[in-house]
Amino acid sequence: MCEVFHKFIMGLHHFLKEYFLGFWDYETPKVMVIKNRTLGLIYRSVQFLVITYFIWYVFISQKAYQEIETRPEISVYTLMKGIAVHGDEILDTVEYARPSEGGDVISTILRREFTYDQKQGTCAEYFDVTNANCSADSDCVQGEVDFDGHGRRTGRCVQYYNHTFKTCEIQTWCPIERFAAVQEPELVEAINFTIFIRNSIRFPKFKVLRGNIKDASNKRDMQKYLSKCHYHTDKEPYCPNFRLGYIATQARENFSELCRTGGVIGVFINWDCNLDIDPSNCKPTYSFRRLDLRKDQANSGYYFRFAKYYNRNGVESRTLIKAYGIRLDVIVHGHAGKFSPIPTIISTVTAMTSVGICTIICDWIMLTFIDKNEVYSERKFDEVVKEPKEPVSTELSFINSFGSDHSDLSEGVPL
Ligand SMILES: *[C@@H]1O[C@H](CO)[C@@H](O)[C@H](O)[C@H]1NC(C)=O
Ligand SMILES: *[C@@H]1O[C@H](CO)[C@@H](O)[C@H](O)[C@H]1NC(C)=O
Ligand SMILES: *[C@@H]1O[C@H](CO)[C@@H](O)[C@H](O)[C@H]1NC(C)=O
Ligand SMILES: *[C@@H]1O[C@H](CO)[C@@H](O)[C@H](O)[C@H]1NC(C)=O
Repeated sequence: MCEVFHKFIMGLHHFLKEYFLGFWDYETPKVMVIKNRTLGLIYRSVQFLVITYFIWYVFISQKAYQEIETRPEISVYTLMKGIAVHGDEILDTVEYARPSEGGDVISTILRREFTYDQKQGTCAEYFDVTNANCSADSDCVQGEVDFDGHGRRTGRCVQYYNHTFKTCEIQTWCPIERFAAVQEPELVEAINFTIFIRNSIRFPKFKVLRGNIKDASNKRDMQKYLSKCHYHTDKEPYCPNFRLGYIATQARENFSELCRTGGVIGVFINWDCNLDIDPSNCKPTYSFRRLDLRKDQANSGYYFRFAKYYNRNGVESRTLIKAYGIRLDVIVHGHAGKFSPIPTIISTVTAMTSVGICTIICDWIMLTFIDKNEVYSERKFDEVVKEPKEPVSTELSFINSFGSDHSDLSEGVPL
């Protein structure tokens, strides 16, 4: 054990000594011309490929000659439109669109569950809540509040509504939703509802303001057009009216499935502007993707609750509504670039420096494949000592004494 440790220390000592001595050597590249057609061909081809790639990458793919703006100022306004007929009842946007002022998040209700005529009072707890089943009052703890439950326990054991078994009584809005909720059929007409999205974007660095609606001189014609048109990638790129059915299809979702569970869909507006050409070419593109985790079935979907309050005979009552719907999150990405000398210089210098990679590749090819007899490698790594005594022998096999061989440094070496 001690021996091994000793050896290790010696080895480490040796290594550090070598490294320390080597650290104070000066290294300088030497130019060596190798007259070899194969290598020359490889070198020029690699050089050509590398230069072409960098020109393509810097000037075409990445537009690295441009100054860019990635923090634009963005404003989004949304408006839901459409009418649904539900039996005798007509539903307009006030009823199904939330919130009413139309920001970058807007939702539409697709299905509702009503719990009518709730009042503050006492009634039986839902039977699936922990410890809610009981056979006597002693099973129920007075004042206990279960966070999975619906209210505060009164300490009595009562019949579960019109069923035969008993649960603990609670003080809450009665009757409870889990027992009394009535499902309404889905709002199938919602597939034809439209959402109007007005989006403006400003790139402060370049002082460019763009909107997703085309400017028009005649305001009335414009309004007429906007109330009729539907978005189409090629035919109507400036018409920001989207059918919910279109959005669901684009997000690859089944609309009737969405009606059942609700869901969150991201509406992505992407501005990628090259301001070297006229700003009018700067058009938005739209894409749609579902944002809630659909695979996690238990937790997916989208719903919210609200209530309508009224006063019956002096008693405050409410209709509780659990609403399933589509929530649209409008997410805008903006990116603009314009020619500027500084990034151009930096990119050009970077590209030119990268050409050095050719030498590394060719050196490797030369030393590994072509230099079978180690003719080149002997000359490639030279160690110059001022007063040469005898050839230095180290672990680096390429190193050769320079003393006896006063050959021209740029001498051509025939293969
Ligand atoms: C309470 O009793 C009902 C009816 O007997 C039963 O269906 C339910 O599973 C019970 N709840 C719990 C939490 O055991
Ligand atoms: C309880 O009453 C509801 C209506 O209030 C009814 O639909 C249900 O069938 C009744 N259940 C039983 C077990 O009687
Ligand atoms: C939606 O609109 C299309 C054409 O305007 C119509 O054919 C279709 O029946 C409508 N769908 C619903 C559910 O109202
Ligand atoms: C959508 O889902 C419903 C029920 O979940 C199914 O009946 C229907 O075939 C589905 N439609 C498509 C186009 O997949």
